[in-house]
Amino acid sequence: MVLPLVCVLVFPVAIVFIIRGFYLITFVNGNEPKNIKYIKQAKILIVLGSGGHTTEILRIVQRLNHEKYSPRIYIKAKTDVISSNKVKEIEKSHKNYKIIEISRSREVGQSYLTSVLTTIWTILQSFPIVWREKPDLLLCNGPGTCIPLCLVTFFFKAIFILNTKIVFVESFCRVKSFSLTGKILYYLANHIIVQWPNLNGSTYPRSILVK
Ligand SMILES: *[C@@H]1O[C@H](CO)[C@@H](O)[C@H](O)[C@H]1NC(C)=O
Repeated sequence: MVLPLVCVLVFPVAIVFIIRGFYLITFVNGNEPKNIKYIKQAKILIVLGSGGHTTEILRIVQRLNHEKYSPRIYIKAKTDVISSNKVKEIEKSHKNYKIIEISRSREVGQSYLTSVLTTIWTILQSFPIVWREKPDLLLCNGPGTCIPLCLVTFFFKAIFILNTKIVFVESFCRVKSFSLTGKILYYLANHIIVQWPNLNGSTYPRSILVK
């Protein structure tokens, strides 16, 4: 009874995911969007990578139009105590934001094997968050919880549930090469923003150089 049910449900979803996922990675991501649909407001999910990554991404968020990019949902790791203060500081005159906590997929110095398990756990936690929030835009600059959230968002996109734009900003400290997160999200994100000319569009066709 259970097995046929699983097959009936999971099998078509898996097929759609594989085919459309391939289509998105090959033909959609990294390209200029064809038919741009303008929306009044974009709900934006901002993944705080903690430390310097949080500072960098908040510097970008600060420059966004607060009425258009609203509401703003910040995701931070449970063990990251500093990021929420930084958010509260830049949001002090606004109400249209909230902070959600998630467990970190990999702590600094954690072993490779247990990282796999904690990453799976973070992916499972990301499902209800992305499902509930249904963001129009996912903004991240890695590392930590960024990949699980992007994976889950990409999954929902591939099976036609969401139409979220994923934007990855490579950290200012990556001068010559992409970070591991960058290498993975290079394919999953709609747009890759880089800040140094060596990661330019002629070598990495999907990247957009912003100085
Ligand atoms: C693009 O990147 C390559 C390799 O990193 C580098 O050799 C080249 O000079 C860069 N081009 C520009 C225009 O910056």
